[in-house]
Amino acid sequence: MEIDQLLAELRQKPLPRHVALIMDGNGRWAKARGLPRSEGHRQGALATERLIRFAAEKKLVPYITLFAFSTENWARPRQEIEFLFSLLEDFLRKKLRELAEAGIRLWLLGDMDKLPGRLQAAIREALSATEGNRDLNLAVALNFGGRWAILEGVRRALAQGLGPEELTEESFRKLLPTGGLPEPDLIIRTGGHQRLSNFFLWEAAYAELYFTPTLWPDFGPEEFLLALRDFQGRTRNFGRAVE
Ligand code: IPE
Ligand code: IPE
Ligand code: MG
Repeated sequence: MEIDQLLAELRQKPLPRHVALIMDGNGRWAKARGLPRSEGHRQGALATERLIRFAAEKKLVPYITLFAFSTENWARPRQEIEFLFSLLEDFLRKKLRELAEAGIRLWLLGDMDKLPGRLQAAIREALSATEGNRDLNLAVALNFGGRWAILEGVRRALAQGLGPEELTEESFRKLLPTGGLPEPDLIIRTGGHQRLSNFFLWEAAYAELYFTPTLWPDFGPEEFLLALRDFQGRTRNFGRAVE
């Protein structure tokens, strides 16, 4: 279907406020072509750029989170880890002006302290340069783990001396690293595996899940729109009885 026709259809119905993407399948994309994994990551980064540009331009969804590096991804070869970080640093440095001009506000979810100093500096610069933007909130989950995030919330609660009676789902939610974002309505995972891999655990409680075999470098704007259309066809009960 034509992208414009899909867009017009999608705008007739409620859209998700927050879509999170588990970008998986770069390695298999490369392997299928006899290329090194790094080439898969490079193509994956291009797919990410395409999608961000499209999402910022069409303004369908105000919050998008990208799962870029998990707390478990440290188990990969050092070279691969360094390559992933350098891709992100490159992107932030070269595309910062474009991000800012496209009205994108960058957020970072994850344990920044463990990242290389140069990457931390590029992130800090991008966060402050895009702070005032409102068109698209783009959160990058980097050195992020769902369990880490919950523990981080617990640490903040303890540090603030919150007592058991003050700790409610609502108050705790705000202490999580994702506390400034709305709950994800839709989580998309590419690459065919049907699991969360320690991504949003607390946050995923009532998210709709969408799994596609498409490998991340092949995931384009059209399939993003198809996932949104699939979301619009679902009934969200939130535990209620439905007639
Ligand atoms: C990219 O896909 C996801 C990251 C962790 C950066 P993978 O590198 O996990 O690709 P596959 O799953 O091996 O194909
Ligand atoms: C999930 O992909 C993490 C990211 C996309 C950043 P993985 O490739 O690390 O997941 P597993 O190891 O197959 O569960
Ligand atoms: Mg993978």
